[in-house]
Amino acid sequence: MASERIPGRPRALSGIQPTAGSFHLGNYLGAVRQYVALQETHDAFYMVVDLHAITVPQDPAELRANTRLAVAQLLAAGLDPERCTLFIQSHVPEHTQLGWLMNCITGFGEASRMTQFKDKSAKQGADRATVGLFTYPILQVADILLYQADAVPVGEDQRQHIELTRDLAERFNGRFGPTFTLPQAYIVREVAKIHDLQDPTAKMSKSAASAKGLVNLLDEPSVSAKKFRSAVTDTETVVRFDEKDKPGVSNLLTIHSALTGTGIAELEEQYAGKGYGALKTDVAEIFVAWVTPFRERTQEYLGDPETLDAVMAKGAEKARAVAAETLAAAYDRIGFVPAKH
Ligand code: TRP
Repeated sequence: MASERIPGRPRALSGIQPTAGSFHLGNYLGAVRQYVALQETHDAFYMVVDLHAITVPQDPAELRANTRLAVAQLLAAGLDPERCTLFIQSHVPEHTQLGWLMNCITGFGEASRMTQFKDKSAKQGADRATVGLFTYPILQVADILLYQADAVPVGEDQRQHIELTRDLAERFNGRFGPTFTLPQAYIVREVAKIHDLQDPTAKMSKSAASAKGLVNLLDEPSVSAKKFRSAVTDTETVVRFDEKDKPGVSNLLTIHSALTGTGIAELEEQYAGKGYGALKTDVAEIFVAWVTPFRERTQEYLGDPETLDAVMAKGAEKARAVAAETLAAAYDRIGFVPAKH
């Protein structure tokens, strides 16, 4: 199968970690919803990055379950295998193969400057951090370059990895001849940044200090509703968007607006004279109405492993067609003798 670009559409590629089990509301509103939208404008490739997941210890049964769960949730969120290429990273061996080439043109000092590695290895203790964690960004470079991606939808925390991707692509192209497209980080400013419900100055994260601040999409909706109703706000009573002085209320407004499409100013008007209680109850209800069908769809995909397997197989086949072509070009440029079959 030869790879063909969809004419007139830039290519987008992104990866999502399968380690959390349930996606949380911040993952959905900050990233996954963006993936869904890009299917309409881009030739979009999305993968569940299980190779990256094992850079920190994983329980095998959990990793397998979480990887399938990630695919099911991406489908439930609206990724359509007819309109994008959705696959599992380890199903495409070219990632590790191109990763090796990239390792061999990356400076040790250059890799040492990656801040995510510094943060993650500091958390684990330097002795327990693996070489895989150290080279994590270089595998990510290969992920992106294999697909000749133009745009990489990611969060601000990934900007340094996209810069490394551009640097290595330029270096390879300069030494061995034009091979790779230089990608750009696709970071949407207006994308909703969701904060912890108990500590609204912190980003919503699976490593939240208190479980009450974290809204997991696959939790029992009544449990999440309760979290919204007991969200931390402030001692005023006015519903007003002010991230600095009223981060809790602003966060609830952001979530409301993102799920209903109502503008923030309009919401402020709607809640004029009403207390925080009304806002919290409404956000809880809006969330439950949205998440209930999402959970049902996820369960349907999980309950039908044959369909899920077929989606993953088709995605891997489409991805490999592109990846194999790029890898062959890179192998040739670097001076490997072609294998005759
Ligand atoms: N490092 C990314 C993250 O932690 C995940 C990722 C892996 C990725 N490969 C990628 C993102 C390629 C974009 C493109 O979120």
